[in-house]
Amino acid sequence: MAKSYPVTLIEGDGIGPEICAEMKKVVAATGVKLQFFPAYAGQTGIEKFNDTLPDQTLKLIKKTRVAIKGPLMTPIAKGFGSINVLLRKKLELYANVRPVLSFPAISPYKDVDLVIMRENTEDLYSGIEHEIAPGVVESIKVITRDASTRIAKYAFEYAKRKKRKKVTAIHKANIMKLSDGLFLDCARQVSKSYPGIEYAEMIVDNACMQLVTRPSQFDVLLLENLYGDIVSDLCAGLVGGLGLVPGGNIGKKYAIFESVHGSAPDIAGKGIANPIAIVLTLAMMLDYLGEAKASKAVHQAVVNVLKAKKVQTPDLGGKKTTAQMGDALAKEVSKLI
Ligand code: NAI
Repeated sequence: MAKSYPVTLIEGDGIGPEICAEMKKVVAATGVKLQFFPAYAGQTGIEKFNDTLPDQTLKLIKKTRVAIKGPLMTPIAKGFGSINVLLRKKLELYANVRPVLSFPAISPYKDVDLVIMRENTEDLYSGIEHEIAPGVVESIKVITRDASTRIAKYAFEYAKRKKRKKVTAIHKANIMKLSDGLFLDCARQVSKSYPGIEYAEMIVDNACMQLVTRPSQFDVLLLENLYGDIVSDLCAGLVGGLGLVPGGNIGKKYAIFESVHGSAPDIAGKGIANPIAIVLTLAMMLDYLGEAKASKAVHQAVVNVLKAKKVQTPDLGGKKTTAQMGDALAKEVSKLI
């Protein structure tokens, strides 16, 4: 009998439920038995359990060990803190892995094939902020040797496993000499154990310029939390937008897979969100679960559908709906599997 994998599913806010519905069609087409257990957080957590991160949700993720989630809305400059950040910290999902790849017929840049490796637990995302005096606010950036070494090791191990050739540490150590200096020092130390992988460093502002002028020079990008967040969206822009970039938050015990994009309130409920990012996120999760064949088929289905240019959601310049894209992807997966 085929193996069944229990997976926590947080559909999330905004476009989350719409794209997750399409992701489920693709799962069915793979034939892999994913047993989804619904869980709630953020806005729906409040609605259902009066809690942004209900105990039930954390317990369920700890039980299934693997989760896939849609985006969660975070109020801006007020209200509750990011539940995404909280989940990553509580479950020690220290590596945020985001592969960014050019797609035929769609991507403005044709030669992008890089992986963002973002430290996921500290930096300015530690959430330590206070008002010292009226009109003076302090926000504390925390960088530790342990977390920096841990993400650097993960980046090099990932590069080795995936046969990637180069790791570039992105920093601002010319200004933040202590914090980014420590991050760099850890990356340098770790790099010495991987002589087969080239190690480079680049200041973050120059890296942004280099990414939009010559992205093919980059392979694995190693970044602190904030730079990783910003550079992820920049890289998404290189290949056709946030509707195309998947991601995974990986720790020693647990993993939560989620796309780079947010809840997209401007298009939520209109049925036009692109489900490709969550479908590619599913492909990452299948690979993590050891279902390499299904993972490859899902990825190839995305490539084939994009190449054919018949089904395109508005973000890709077309007029098709979320459901039409989901149907096309599921049909293509059925052919490939
Ligand atoms: P966003 O990623 O939601 O949207 C940015 C732009 O990209 C919008 O124009 C949106 O329509 C478009 N977009 C995003 N995903 C798309 C898709 N699948 N198909 C087509 N177009 C897509 O970023 P924004 O507006 O800055 O944030 C909205 C909310 O999402 C905020 O509350 C934010 O905190 C949250 N957020 C949550 C994340 C998560 O749960 N991991 C990640 C990023 C933001």
